[in-house]
Amino acid sequence: MRKILIIGNGAREHVIAETFKRSAQEVELYIFGGAKNPGIVSLAAGYEVGDVCDLEAIAAFAEKSEVEFAVVGPEAPIAAGVVDRLRELGVASASPLQTVGRLESSKGFTRDLLKKYEIYGNPEFQVFENEEGLSEFFDHLGEHYVVKADGLKGGKGVKVSGDHLNGKEEGMAYARECLADGGKVVIEEKLVGPEFSLMSFCDGMNTVEMPCVQDHKRAYDGDEGPNTGGMGSYGGSDHSLPFLSDADIKEAAQITREVASALKEETGESFKGVMYGGFIATAKGVRLIEYNARFGDPEAMNVLPLLKTDFVELCEAIIHGRLNELAVEFEQKATVCKYVVPEGYPDSPAKDKKIVVGEVPDGVKVYYSSVDQREDGLYLSGSRAIAFVGVADSLEEAEKLAASAVGSVEGPVFYRNDIGTAELIEKRVQMMKELRG
Ligand code: AMP
Ligand code: GLY
Repeated sequence: MRKILIIGNGAREHVIAETFKRSAQEVELYIFGGAKNPGIVSLAAGYEVGDVCDLEAIAAFAEKSEVEFAVVGPEAPIAAGVVDRLRELGVASASPLQTVGRLESSKGFTRDLLKKYEIYGNPEFQVFENEEGLSEFFDHLGEHYVVKADGLKGGKGVKVSGDHLNGKEEGMAYARECLADGGKVVIEEKLVGPEFSLMSFCDGMNTVEMPCVQDHKRAYDGDEGPNTGGMGSYGGSDHSLPFLSDADIKEAAQITREVASALKEETGESFKGVMYGGFIATAKGVRLIEYNARFGDPEAMNVLPLLKTDFVELCEAIIHGRLNELAVEFEQKATVCKYVVPEGYPDSPAKDKKIVVGEVPDGVKVYYSSVDQREDGLYLSGSRAIAFVGVADSLEEAEKLAASAVGSVEGPVFYRNDIGTAELIEKRVQMMKELRG
């Protein structure tokens, strides 16, 4: 019996749990999450609700459950040092230690790392600890800049010129705000092009890419409205995206490989887990937007259902630095994931309202996130509610499947119609053509 701890309670952790349960080995799952997730509850041997950054509570739960290893879903516990705390107990993790987790928790650290090790992919940037030179750097960048608070801000620390800020004065004001918050601020050149996610498993030395995925951060159709945790995502059956060339993916994978090795040299620690690169395909090639030190949500729901390799073995290979000995394979299927979210999400989401899931066709996977199971059914608990993933031979079929399932949900909810549709994908292809000529 393999006893495994999963930290987190969203749809990402639901698909992680399901993927472990598909292992040929007998697996018992122990979950430590912020709330009960009805999808995960049905797969778990033990489930404790608590603060996912409460290291002592997690350590006590891990000891009591006698788990062998852990996987951490969200970024906050990684940044809080949960992997380090578990290691003190002799529990390994297929997730990174705090030091190497800085890849996500400090944007300045990552930009500086690429620069120091001369790794291709940075935009023009500078990290500031005070206002010295700030005004001059804004003058240098002109209209096209991005201002990033250095630490974890739940995706809310980044402001882009033209989108959230206009002109030097507004940029300077937000940069000052970030500095006054006690942190550093990263100012960088604004890059133009479609974004994509390339997640790689990493054991410290070896990296193995997963299929490419594109997430959609804006709340409404046509990429309008506020930024969200991610409304849905798609990936092609060839493990690429229609607007990318093979060279783009190779470039992104190469950046990740070099960053893994630079991290080891810089910190003395191996990065174990998932290096999730957010990249942008520009006119001049691929550039790095940021790294996350974990699976993406929703991206995990696109790739893990396609994983053919035993996930227990894969995590062990990550932990023991043996990824090079394992053939990591994914099915050649297209996936489209659509999240159903509460009306008003993300700013003032409906809560405590009942929803009813209608008919879910074959070929659709259902992953629960922010929903509460009560005696008379499912209730919204304020964030992204349920992810529906269509899995098929083509993007067109996968989109139809996901659309039919997500459209069956009754209650005060909405979703994005356009994710994975031919029309939206064609827009990205056209954008790329215009950029690259
Ligand atoms: P991050 O939290 O670093 O992923 O940034 C959030 C979002 O800001 C990204 O998904 C991009 O859409 C945007 N962004 C970040 N950095 C840049 C950049 N240098 N140029 C253009 N957009 C950016
Ligand atoms: N897909 C966005 C994230 O996981 O941060």
